[in-house]
Amino acid sequence: MTKITAAITSVGGYVPEYRLTNKELETMVDTNDEWIRSRTGVEERRILKGEGLGSSDMGVEAVKEILAKKGIDPAEIDCLICATVTPDMVFPATANIICDKAGLTNAFSFDMGAACSGFLFALTTGSSLIESGRYKKIIVVGVDKMSSIIDYSDRATCIIFGDGAGAVLLEPSVDETGVKDSILKSDGSGRQYLHMKAGGSVKPATVETVLAKEHYVYQEGQAVFKFAVKGMADVSYELMQRNNLTADDIAWLVPHQANLRIIDATANRMDLPKEKVMINIQKYGNTTAGTLPLCLWDWEKQLKKGDNVILAAFGGGFTWGATWIKWAYDSN
Ligand code: UT7
Repeated sequence: MTKITAAITSVGGYVPEYRLTNKELETMVDTNDEWIRSRTGVEERRILKGEGLGSSDMGVEAVKEILAKKGIDPAEIDCLICATVTPDMVFPATANIICDKAGLTNAFSFDMGAACSGFLFALTTGSSLIESGRYKKIIVVGVDKMSSIIDYSDRATCIIFGDGAGAVLLEPSVDETGVKDSILKSDGSGRQYLHMKAGGSVKPATVETVLAKEHYVYQEGQAVFKFAVKGMADVSYELMQRNNLTADDIAWLVPHQANLRIIDATANRMDLPKEKVMINIQKYGNTTAGTLPLCLWDWEKQLKKGDNVILAAFGGGFTWGATWIKWAYDSN
């Protein structure tokens, strides 16, 4: 029996209109454009403004783009997986809300919380469902409204993050293209360096937790940076080694957009020139689960059938990983 593989057959994306520039941040916290650019690579990030709007409102736009591009009836989608750490509500799953808003009436849906590696984890899960032979059309969304959990008086975090969504359609591959291999890793002991202190079952929200600003991202930047550089570079290299891929074989590296210096370290370890690395951190900042599909969205027209593409991520948890995809289509 021939093995079924899962191929990405379409990409959608959405970023909100509002651009929060480094200049504007200079008026909010003690920082400056030069520091932010040189330490992170971010120039501006998008922010979802407006009452009552959440991650699902961005995710649904990315899903609708895919449905329109492919001319698919929403009822044909079997499953939707949403990677996010900023769900609309603690429950129900944002994936359920996206399905409702996009009319995916036949899809079962659930959220996946693996922070900045969420999209990679969800992509691997969705691919496995396709490989099982039971499902034919799965949408994987990566979305975060990071502005909902960022303290805009904390200069160490507010300069990095932004809002955005990306999505991909997975279908059974008809040739040798598709998701070829993944290495995914988790280490919960890293939670001390990157987490949200309150709002979970250990410390439910109270007036005191709100006043203590415990519902925002807590990050020890330097510690996370060290783990991220090593984790993302090592796992990407390991994936190349175990599949006998050389730098010449790889058309694109799609790295999580957390910090330009982490991206550079990963590309160096893989011996890849800058021209093969997708970088849009300057436009969107770190959109957590949104970064990888937003890169695919921005570069979709340049991707060619048969291209070897390596996706790599590192994030809260800690979680990290890399995935090798043989790109399945030319988009015109
Ligand atoms: O995506 C999830 C995973 N997250 C990551 O991968 C993030 C990893 N970490 C980072 O990207 C970096 O650690 C940051 C961008 C968060 C910070 O950069 P850094 O080079 O590690 O800076 P630092 O925290 O070591 O701070 C260096 C200096 C400090 O001043 P002193 O103590 O040397 O006088 C900070 O107070 O820079 C100061 N600083 C700032 N200065 C201007 C910190 N934030 C700012 C700021 N503007 N926004």
